[in-house]
Amino acid sequence: MSIWGIYSCFYDLSLRNLFPYRQLLDDLTRALEVKGGERILDAGCGPGAVIERVIKENRGKTISVVGVDFSRGMIGRARKRCMKLPDVRLQVADLNRKLEFPDNSFDKVVCSNVLYALENPEKVLSEFYRVLKPGAAVVIANPKPNAGERELVREHLRTLRRLSPFHRRAYHMIVSILLIPVNLVVTTINKIILTRARNREYHFLDKGSLSRILQEVRFRNISISSCYADQCWLVRAEKWESGQDGEDRVSDS
Ligand SMILES: C[S@@+](CC[C@H](N)C(=O)[O-])C[C@H]1O[C@@H](n2cnc3c(N)ncnc32)[C@H](O)[C@@H]1O
Repeated sequence: MSIWGIYSCFYDLSLRNLFPYRQLLDDLTRALEVKGGERILDAGCGPGAVIERVIKENRGKTISVVGVDFSRGMIGRARKRCMKLPDVRLQVADLNRKLEFPDNSFDKVVCSNVLYALENPEKVLSEFYRVLKPGAAVVIANPKPNAGERELVREHLRTLRRLSPFHRRAYHMIVSILLIPVNLVVTTINKIILTRARNREYHFLDKGSLSRILQEVRFRNISISSCYADQCWLVRAEKWESGQDGEDRVSDS
């Protein structure tokens, strides 16, 4: 079983209570700028938290979402979570291979904390580019080179201290304490991930490299900002509209 199979048993329980992760879901959803009628691909959907948030935040708009992940454990959890949500399709697929979707078939692609674990990020981004419709956008979260857990925990505790009234804060403190055993497993898996990143097996990319790769794939209107307690980059970039010309614009925020 891969680390993702093991992670699927603990990931959701640990992260759904982590305040920076909730903020990340908000940031991704906002960056997607979903409109009615859109078809969205969640590449590496894990247990489906992004899909759930995007659909709930866009109630009243008819959107359809396809979630893919190569871990059967993750897809199983996503299926349970999204059972009652309209128009969600979940399937097992390896992002290191060519996507089975036709060219120009999605209005948005979201890929949260997955790109780093793939063999060749540039090849995968080219696949995202291929399946996006002209003018459509990709939204990515990917760890910064020095990303770690410490700042996530600090930010979680800072938010916890700001919570009021008292019983809400007490509830979250108790949940945080009860989750210590789960978080120990998650911390161990994160150590494996960090070791792989240090060994360059995983791709924790700096801003310049991310920007360069996106430009090489021909994305335009690239914006890269910080998210997830400053541990990740939040990227939004668009596919060229047919017939467009001019300079690519890269913006810092
Ligand atoms: C850290 S989790 C992120 C899950 C979800 N996107 C989120 O933000 O909550 C990374 C996910 O990438 C998936 N993944 C890793 N390598 C993959 C591959 N080659 N093809 C498809 N999914 C992959 C894992 O199974 C796992 O669900």
